[in-house]
Amino acid sequence: MYGVVSSGKEARVYWAKNRKGDDLAVKIYLTFTSEFKKSIRQYIEGDPRFERIRGDTRSIIYAWTRKEYRNLKRMYGAGIRVPKPYYCHKNILVMEFIGENGVRAPLLKETRLEEDEYYDILERVLNYMGLMYKKARLVHADLSEYNIMILGREVVIIDVAQSVTLDHPMADYFLRRDIKNVLRYFREEADIETPSEEEVYRRIVQ
Ligand SMILES: Nc1ncnc2c1ncn2[C@@H]1O[C@H](COP(=O)(O)OP(=O)(O)OP(=O)(O)O)[C@@H](O)[C@H]1O
Ligand SMILES: [Mg+2]
Repeated sequence: MYGVVSSGKEARVYWAKNRKGDDLAVKIYLTFTSEFKKSIRQYIEGDPRFERIRGDTRSIIYAWTRKEYRNLKRMYGAGIRVPKPYYCHKNILVMEFIGENGVRAPLLKETRLEEDEYYDILERVLNYMGLMYKKARLVHADLSEYNIMILGREVVIIDVAQSVTLDHPMADYFLRRDIKNVLRYFREEADIETPSEEEVYRRIVQ
């Protein structure tokens, strides 16, 4: 294990290496505030994969970690560019490191690119949203410029613990919210023209 890549409120992400010397990202969920515990209930309840979880904090953290791991696997298998998931144990998730030599790639939020590059990135994000819906049968549910990394010419989607299956009662609501957030960023901050929310919604679901 090497340095801390990111230290958020609930999770810490470390840069690490395996015995072969490949870079890894290790995400460790530390503690859950009661506020966060409350907010994640809506993503766990309603997902048939996580129906019988006990209510104590430890069980919820482990379920949350496992949920992120399984969502990553499902997305990776559907051809969506996410960090390749390697391993999950208790509150620890090990995945591909998105960056180089221990330096993480920038978030979309942190980039200043040319107009044509933003058009290209938007197109890829919409494609991944479509694959996520139609092939992985999942909705990201927290998609924004903060959870998209730009690795050279690749667009990498991260942070998928809260992603839900399509049979979740709020899946449609989460999808529309993701679309809104993504389009708002490209329109207002990247300053490019975007299709309407309705057009994008139809493209994703059909
Ligand atoms: N696989 C990875 N490779 C490199 N860096 C990563 C990876 N996954 C996450 N990160 C970095 O760690 C940060 C936090 O990760 P993530 O978004 O998954 O967690 P989070 O729960 O949203 O944490 P936070 O509260 O800090 O936003 C990301 O913004 C990114 O900078
Ligand atoms: Mg995040």
